[in-house]
Amino acid sequence: MKLNWKLWLPQKHRQLLVKFAVAVLLMGLALRLLLVRSTDISPELETPLPETPRLPQKIVAVEEPPPFVEVEAQENEEQVSQTDLPEIDGGKCDLFNGEWIPNPSGPIYTNKTCSFIESHQNCIRNGRPDSEYLFWRWKPRRCELPKFDAERFLEMMRNKAWALIGDSISRNHVQSLLCMLSTVEKPVEVFHDKEYKSRRWNFPTYNLTISVIWSPFLVKATIYEDYNGVSTSEVKLHVDKLDKKWTSLYESLDYMIISTGKWFLKSSIYYEKNEVVGCHYCQNKFEEVGFDYAYRKALREAMNFVAASNHKGMILFRTSTPDHFENGEWSSGGTCKRKLPAKAGDFRLKDLHRILRKIELEEFRDATANATTNGVKMKLLDVNPLSLLRPDGHPGPYREYHPFERHKDGNVQNDCLHWCLPGAIDSWNDLIMEMVVNS
Ligand SMILES: *[C@@H]1O[C@H](CO)[C@@H](O)[C@H](O)[C@H]1NC(C)=O
Ligand SMILES: *[C@@H]1O[C@H](CO)[C@@H](O)[C@H](O)[C@H]1NC(C)=O
Ligand SMILES: *[C@@H]1O[C@H](CO)[C@@H](O)[C@H](O)[C@H]1NC(C)=O
Repeated sequence: MKLNWKLWLPQKHRQLLVKFAVAVLLMGLALRLLLVRSTDISPELETPLPETPRLPQKIVAVEEPPPFVEVEAQENEEQVSQTDLPEIDGGKCDLFNGEWIPNPSGPIYTNKTCSFIESHQNCIRNGRPDSEYLFWRWKPRRCELPKFDAERFLEMMRNKAWALIGDSISRNHVQSLLCMLSTVEKPVEVFHDKEYKSRRWNFPTYNLTISVIWSPFLVKATIYEDYNGVSTSEVKLHVDKLDKKWTSLYESLDYMIISTGKWFLKSSIYYEKNEVVGCHYCQNKFEEVGFDYAYRKALREAMNFVAASNHKGMILFRTSTPDHFENGEWSSGGTCKRKLPAKAGDFRLKDLHRILRKIELEEFRDATANATTNGVKMKLLDVNPLSLLRPDGHPGPYREYHPFERHKDGNVQNDCLHWCLPGAIDSWNDLIMEMVVNS
């Protein structure tokens, strides 16, 4: 039905209305232009990985605190591509290509309901004042990612054994998983090693076991650290021998999430067949061969082991995650003060992360061929791109309890590598749910 407004509006009002309508039209046009422009700018993620990345054979860091050293990213480098990834589930939906969207309902657990949050990641208790970082969820571009359903997960995983294998990010992750699951049932700790680095929990009603296995290199390593975790000597790394801590349990596990990363940046001496083959950042004791050499060898060793294994469960390789130190690094006053997720392209992977990532993707792609032949279910859990967009998700100074009360000078060590709990890392479990339970 057409409304004839000329009939019931006086002349003056009619003119006003016309002016108003024109204004609305113009505004709409302006908005449209704005929107079109902004979508034009955004998807930097489509650009492919440079053909010949400058993969340094010899990287000698100037100063290397464990294990967080970075070099400054250089100008005009492209974003590491997601199109470079092996196709996930036949390419119908790339779970790892998307954006963070508002999630008004927020996390399903709090520091009160979960007792597994490590103090260094217990950001709210430690006094982090802002809370916007809690209200986002990951939205893949071409599909919906359902939320983690703790009850369904537990039900599906009756009598199963899970393990998260890797470094402190794996520990961070296992705590997130335990927190989410403990909204349904509290797990009971059934094992821990002397230093509480490897641990195992059981959910009694479901007989589900979840372990975290401390194996930061995945290969055999002798680490020399003092009580504070500061390196006292080079790591001795046997790049051709897998770490028995996880391989000895491999057959008994149904699901694994395997990961490694930054520990390879530490100063190390590399061994093959028990002979020194070189080193990284070792004060010229041996030939510098670059950490990338060891990273590739170790990952190939681990992935080939999995691919050749006839394992009947599922093995996820989790990509390494970037840090977000700005205006410095771990050791030089770097901070991460952002309170909101970033948009694609706001953050570039730093050079060292780029090198790690390239090796991870290449080795995974090569190994999946063998895995497919052997019927081994090996998948890539590519949390790197979505993590890159969460500079707001780290503890920053709130890795310790009320830091600015303790350090009146404001001189507080920041953590821009691990993740606050609850927080961005909880989304990793949405992805796992989708990859493991729903598919
Ligand atoms: C949880 O965080 C709140 C601040 O939001 C704090 O008051 C409380 O003590 C914390 N609870 C625990 C168990 O850490
Ligand atoms: C619990 O699960 C393990 C496998 O993780 C299985 O060997 C064991 O038999 C199960 N126990 C019961 C009581 O079903
Ligand atoms: C596939 O498996 C064979 C035999 O174990 C091994 O020699 C080869 O290196 C593997 N290929 C890749 C790409 O991992």
